[in-house]
Amino acid sequence: MRRLLTRGAVIVACMAVLATVIGQEPKEEEGTKDVKAFMRTKLVHSQRVLEGLTLEDFDAIARHAQQMALLSQDASWNVLETQEYYERSADFRRSVQELKLAAQKKNLDGAALAYMGVTLKCIECHRYLRQVQHVEAPAP
Ligand code: HEC
Repeated sequence: MRRLLTRGAVIVACMAVLATVIGQEPKEEEGTKDVKAFMRTKLVHSQRVLEGLTLEDFDAIARHAQQMALLSQDASWNVLETQEYYERSADFRRSVQELKLAAQKKNLDGAALAYMGVTLKCIECHRYLRQVQHVEAPAP
């Protein structure tokens, strides 16, 4: 049931992404596209959190933090099976949890700070992904 709800949320979020993102790459394998679409929903939720922070809408902040936590627990999240990816995912989940707790306590400063923590985790994991891809890429 919870999984169903998650899937529903992902689909809704995907539709939102499709509505806002221009210029999707047309030629991609289905699998890759699915993961990308799934992963892109993080961006939507993080934008919704920022919206919530600016409007002081704590319910929205907590809701979208929760959605990010659920995404990170989905099987589709496990793109890499390295220790580092696992740790970065755990760090991300911790930050998202902090964000949700601050929102539930209606602590705007705490939520703003936690949001920065979440954003840093986005950037750090993506930097790691680029490093891994760089290593794996065939020599020119
Ligand atoms: C623990 C690692 C990790 C964290 C943390 C993480 N991501 Fe990702 N993200 C991935 C992986 C893996 C992919 C899919 C593979 C790829 O695109 O290289 C991805 C893909 C994406 C994509 C799609 C990229 C594309 O090429 O279309 C976006 C956008 C994105 N992430 C945004 C975010 C945002 C925003 C956050 C923070 C709220 C975040 N990510 C946090 C691992 C992570």
